Amino acid sequence: MKLLITGGKGQLGRELCEILQNGKSRLGALPDELLDAKITAVDVDELDITDLTAVRRFFADCRPDVVINCAAMTNVDGCETQYETAMLVNGIGPQNLAIASAECGAKLLHVSTDYVFRGDGDTPRCEWDAVDPSTVYGKSKLYGEQAVLRHCPKSFVVRTAWLYGQYGNNFVKTMQRLGREKDEITVVSDQRGNPTNANDLAHHLCKLAVTEAYGIYHCTGTGECSWYEFATRIMEESGLSCRVLPVTSEEYPSKTPRPKFSSLRNLMLSVTVGDEMRQWEDALHDFVTLQEEK
Ligand SMILES: NC(=O)c1ccc[n+]([C@@H]2O[C@H](COP(=O)([O-])OP(=O)(O)OC[C@H]3O[C@@H](n4cnc5c(N)ncnc54)[C@H](OP(=O)(O)O)[C@@H]3O)[C@@H](O)[C@H]2O)c1
Repeated sequence: MKLLITGGKGQLGRELCEILQNGKSRLGALPDELLDAKITAVDVDELDITDLTAVRRFFADCRPDVVINCAAMTNVDGCETQYETAMLVNGIGPQNLAIASAECGAKLLHVSTDYVFRGDGDTPRCEWDAVDPSTVYGKSKLYGEQAVLRHCPKSFVVRTAWLYGQYGNNFVKTMQRLGREKDEITVVSDQRGNPTNANDLAHHLCKLAVTEAYGIYHCTGTGECSWYEFATRIMEESGLSCRVLPVTSEEYPSKTPRPKFSSLRNLMLSVTVGDEMRQWEDALHDFVTLQEEK
């Protein structure tokens, strides 16, 4: 089997490469079919997914059986001012991959986001719930989802949220840095969601990749919390004495309003390949333990 990862130098792309190289994740062994797969990982310097001609040429050479798209413009505030780039990378890029995947008969797994929902209410959203993004990031990602499902018959759209991993920048690493630098920080306590360990997500992408259970999936850590609760737990797990104080979104406004409630329910996983996503506290504990071992 030939597997192509796009956005291979990003946080999730690198995590995927690592578990595929090891044949296992922190959750356990990967499917047998992937153990001798030929892995090609590329990022924008080798394959710009916004260029359909380049994507087609690359696919003609590589002839992938499975494509996992981890490429994206993930800067939520940046998307708000750079409409064209957001649309190109998050909308047209996945569309190009879907067209090329369909032409060579490959499966396409495309990673998306909780931001496709409005982020209100108080019940975790299932895959069948109506989408209604309010940010440019969310709108561009939704365009990408729809294009993937429209153009590639063998496609999976996998939505995740609050992602952190060993590679790149993320909330956990930011809190750890601030925790070392400061005695006290403030973190918003009125936005809730599901912290997700990139290793767990990568594991489930691999499980899906060897099935034909095409469709839309939610894949986030089990359980939910506020950013304040998440930050408090990060300090505790990391042995940092920095105090975390709760503030409201009004007291700590961001350039782009963030969803108040963006919790997802992994319903499709639980009825197909199985939902092994760990409780968010356990996955965080494992992440920090691993950091200390390295
Ligand atoms: N991070 C989160 O909290 C979060 C939450 C929900 C969903 N997601 C989704 O999860 C996926 C993975 O996110 P991540 O955190 O791994 O993102 P990331 O670290 O920002 O990685 C994205 C990668 O895509 C590359 N890229 C940008 N434009 C490209 C292009 N035109 N062609 C090819 N590659 C391009 C980026 O390169 P440059 O760095 O050079 O731009 C980067 O290496 C994304 O689909 C994202 O929307 C993330």
